[in-house]
Amino acid sequence: MTVADYMAACLHHPEFGYYASRPRLGAEGDFITAPLVSQMFGELIGLWAAETWMRMGSPSPFRLVEMGPGDGTLMSDVLRAVRAVPGFLDAADLWLVETSPPLREAQRARLGELQWTDALAGVPDGAPLVLIANELLDCLPARQFVRTETGWAERRVGLAEGGLAFGLSPPPNGFMPSDAAPGSLLEWSEPTAMLGAEVGRRIAADGGAGLFIDYGRSEPGYGDTLQALVAHQKVSPLERPGEADLTVHADFPTFALAARKVGAGATPILEQGEFLRRLGIAERAAALAAARPDKAEVIGRQLARLVEADQMGSLFKAVVIHTQSLAVPGFE
Ligand SMILES: C[S@@+](CC[C@H](N)C(=O)[O-])C[C@H]1O[C@@H](n2cnc3c(N)ncnc32)[C@H](O)[C@@H]1O
Repeated sequence: MTVADYMAACLHHPEFGYYASRPRLGAEGDFITAPLVSQMFGELIGLWAAETWMRMGSPSPFRLVEMGPGDGTLMSDVLRAVRAVPGFLDAADLWLVETSPPLREAQRARLGELQWTDALAGVPDGAPLVLIANELLDCLPARQFVRTETGWAERRVGLAEGGLAFGLSPPPNGFMPSDAAPGSLLEWSEPTAMLGAEVGRRIAADGGAGLFIDYGRSEPGYGDTLQALVAHQKVSPLERPGEADLTVHADFPTFALAARKVGAGATPILEQGEFLRRLGIAERAAALAAARPDKAEVIGRQLARLVEADQMGSLFKAVVIHTQSLAVPGFE
C-alpha cells in the first residue's frame, strides 16, 4: 500500500486505528501539544479569534469552528479568554470537527454538550467562519516518492519476512516533479491540498478566517518526515501500527496555494514563536507570573517551550486563510 494508505489505516482504521481506538495526548500519553504545554497558548488563540471577528465587522451569527480539538483543552482556554468580549459568544455557532470517537468523548467531558461533525462539510454554510486548528495538518496522510539512480519511484509498505517493510514501485503515470539528486524523498499529501481548497472555497464564499498551526515546512523541499511516537519516544513507523501517533510535517506551501487558487487570501507562513510574540505572549506570561510568583519559574519554562527557536518556536508555523480584504491579527 502507499505510505498515505498506511498512515490512514494506522490512524483511522475503525477498530485498530490510533485515533479510533487509543489516542493518548499529554504528559502521561504519547505526545504533547502546545495547548497542553500552557493555558497561554489557547488564551492567545481566543483573543486572536475575537479580534479577527471584530475586524470582520462582528457578524452574527458566525461559525466558530475547531478542527481536530484533541482533548478539548484548546477550546476550553479559548472560551475562557473570549468571555469578556461583548457579543462574541452570543454570535458564535460553535462546531467541533472530530473523527475520533474517544476524543469526542474527552471533548464532551471537558466542554459539555456541543455540536460535532466529522468533516468541515458538515458545518452549515451561509455564515462567516472563524476556524482554528492546531496539529491537524500533520495527521493528513502523505505519499512518498524516492529519486533512485534510474528515476522516481513510489515508496510503499508491504509484508516481508519478519514483518512490515518499505519497498519501491513505479510512480503513477504523469508523476513529474522537478529533478533531484538520487536519494531525495518527496512527500505529497493530497488531503492537505484538498483541505486548503475546501477552506479557501468556504472563506471566499462566506467570509472569515482559518488559523492553522503545526510543525512543518514553510518552503517546498525534500526529506522524509514520517514519524511515529509512543510515550514521547520515536519508534520506527512500521514497528507498532495503530499503537503510535504517526505524522508527517505539514506542507504549508501546498495548503496555502490551494486556498489562494480558489479565491481566498493566505498570509505568509510565520514561525509560531514570532506569531505568539506578536499576539502578546511575553506580556501574558509576565501577568500570570506577577499573579502567582510561586509559579513564575514554571511559567517561564512554558513560555520558552512555546516560543524559543530550539524548542517549538521555529519548527512550528502558523498560516491563516482569509477573506482577501481582511487584515489578519498577527500578520499585518
Ligand atoms: C495531534 S491531535 C491535536 C489535538 C489538539 N488540536 C491539540 O492541539 O492538542 C490531532 C487531532 O485531529 C483529529 N483528527 C485527525 N485527523 C482528522 C481528520 N481527518 N479530520 C478531523 N479531525 C482529525 C484527531 O482526532 C485529534 O483530535
